[in-house]
Amino acid sequence: LAFLDCTTVDDLCDAIGSMAVRGAPALGAAGAMGVALACVRGDDIADAARRLVATRPTAVNLAWGVDRARTADDPVAEAVRIAAEDVERNRAIGAHGAPLLDDGARVMTHCNAGSLACVGYGTAVGVIRAAHEGGRHPSVWVPETRPVLQGARLTAWELGRLGIAHRLVADVMAASLMASGDVDCVIVGADRIAANGDVVNKVGTYGLAVLADHHGIPFYVAAPRSTFDPASPDGASIPIEQRPPDEVTVIAGHRIAPANTEVENRAFDVTPAALVTAYVTEDGVQRS
Ligand code: MRU
Repeated sequence: LAFLDCTTVDDLCDAIGSMAVRGAPALGAAGAMGVALACVRGDDIADAARRLVATRPTAVNLAWGVDRARTADDPVAEAVRIAAEDVERNRAIGAHGAPLLDDGARVMTHCNAGSLACVGYGTAVGVIRAAHEGGRHPSVWVPETRPVLQGARLTAWELGRLGIAHRLVADVMAASLMASGDVDCVIVGADRIAANGDVVNKVGTYGLAVLADHHGIPFYVAAPRSTFDPASPDGASIPIEQRPPDEVTVIAGHRIAPANTEVENRAFDVTPAALVTAYVTEDGVQRS
C-alpha cells in the first residue's frame, strides 16, 4: 500500500494515466480533487478539467466528478463531499446486495471493485464484505485479471486484509469452475452503464457473463448511480480505452512475447443488459 502525494494537476493526470489511482468511483473522487487542486493553485480550471477528463475515456465517474466540482460554488468543499459520499454509497450498496448471497456462497468477482477502486469500502467487494460482516461466510474466486492483474495484486490483497476466504485463479479457469458447480454467483463493478442497461467493465467481464448465463448462475453488477450514464444509449456508444502494448507483452518487468509483436489491448468490454440478473446500487436492487 503506497500513498502518492499529487501536488499539481499534472501529477494527478500522471497518476491516473499510469493507474496508480484507478477504478471508476476512485476516478470520480480523484477528478473532483483535481479541480479542487487547480482552484487552490490558481490554475485555469477549464483547462485542468479538460486534461483530467482526457486521461481515461471509459469510466463516466471521472467526468462526473470533474463536472460536479467544476460547477460547484466551492470546488474544494464539493470534492471533499464527493469523497465522503462515496464511502456512504458503497456501504448502502453493500447493505442492499448482501442478502443476494446465500450463507457460504462461493462468489466470483473480476478485476478490483474494492476499497482501492473507490474512496473506501468497495462496490462489488463491498457487497461481499457486507455479507461477511453479516456472518454469511462468503468465499471468493478471484480471477487474476490479465493484463494488469488487478485481481491478483489488489483484490486478493484486500480480501486477505479483511479475512475473507478467497482463492486466486487464472482468468482461463472461470469456465471450468462454473462447469463443476463451484460458483454460486458472479458480482462485478462497472465503469459505465448505458441507458439500456449495457455494462462496460474490465475486459473479461463479458466472458464471465456469457459463462454465467450458460450455466444458469446469477450475474450481478454493483455500482453507484454516478456510474449510470443516460447520455450513452447503449454499450456500443461508449468509448473503450486502448492501453499500451507493454501491459500485454511484459509481466513484472519480463518480456513474454517476441519484440515488435502486434498487440490489441482493450481495457474494457461490453456486457449486454440481457446477461445481467440485477444491478445493485445505493438505492437498492434492480432486477433487469
Ligand atoms: O482499468 P481499471 O483498473 O480502472 O478498471 C477498473 C474496473 O474495471 C472496475 O471493475 C470498475 O472501475 C469498478 S470499480 C468499483
